[in-house]
Amino acid sequence: MAIAGFGTTQIRYDMFDVERSADEARRLAKCERIYHRGQEMAWDGKEILPMLLEKHGGIRIDDEKKEALKRVFAIIMWGELAAWKISAQLADGLVPLEAKMGATSQAFDEARHFYVMHDYLRELGYIPKRLDRAPQALLDLVLDTPNLAYKLLGMQLMIETIALTIFQTVREINVEPVIAELMKYYERDEARHVGLGMQYLPSLMVGMNRREISALITFQVRILAWALAELKVLEKDFAVLGLEPRVVLDRGRRKQMAALQEALSALGARTTRERDYAAATLKGIVEVVFPTPETQRPLDRARAAWREFWAHDDLHSMHEFDVHSAHAIQTARGVIVPGEQEATVTPIIAPAA
Ligand SMILES: [Fe+2]
Ligand SMILES: [Fe+2]
Repeated sequence: MAIAGFGTTQIRYDMFDVERSADEARRLAKCERIYHRGQEMAWDGKEILPMLLEKHGGIRIDDEKKEALKRVFAIIMWGELAAWKISAQLADGLVPLEAKMGATSQAFDEARHFYVMHDYLRELGYIPKRLDRAPQALLDLVLDTPNLAYKLLGMQLMIETIALTIFQTVREINVEPVIAELMKYYERDEARHVGLGMQYLPSLMVGMNRREISALITFQVRILAWALAELKVLEKDFAVLGLEPRVVLDRGRRKQMAALQEALSALGARTTRERDYAAATLKGIVEVVFPTPETQRPLDRARAAWREFWAHDDLHSMHEFDVHSAHAIQTARGVIVPGEQEATVTPIIAPAA
């Protein structure tokens, strides 16, 4: 306890003492870059949403789709609040300057995502209410854990990749023109947040023993199980909007594996077996929860689950994320920031005519 300037303090005078390998120094420099990039790329939600509403003549969508859109994006809205709180927890808890800066800029972005989504949902006539059990449980897992590695894995690598997948798919099928265009702004920000997880998670994992890594993987499997339960809750709304759950799942899994593989590559091969176990468990569960037309019978589902559990999981490329930084956006400084590169991932769903 701190008394009159004596005793312990929350000011971490040791924040510059951390010894860094060349690899860690490089990763921390990227975390710092996330802060500065976030500042350059900040957009003004009070300018962009009205601009998009005017451009497209307001939100025009039939009632059935409107209700589905409300339910899907209500989860996103409360998810943005959770992301805001979790990035603020990380901004407080992470010690090295660069990681703290990265998390702080994320908190700034998530505040914007939350109020803009609230403004958009108000246009749709949504009245805020409590979430269903599955999305609530998913967010609570990451909000409540005191372990910063669990938070970074759960939010930046697992939940943000699911959000990116939904944003990308909603944009590609052009569910509704205002939200579709708004998603470009969200995608550019969220891709940076996944970057923070990839760059800093190895530093939080480096001192973990085998038992601690196994516990982390168990936490990951719990997150994935609740995320699947959430997609199951949304299945009917996805169908109304024209989103195919298995397409979303497959795409989300590829992004999650790419981000995880990138983060874990910094730690060498010792986590390979556990990583494959988590991925394989998810693939098996997907076959049971989201059967295809060929696997409607329980026995066929079980066979598909068994096959997927043991199937070799390929290496996934970081190109999975290129599509999110390919959009030009208008920033709060009044300039258009061009896309970083042409998207190398071809849309797997044709945009609506
Ligand atoms: Fe966000
Ligand atoms: Fe985010």
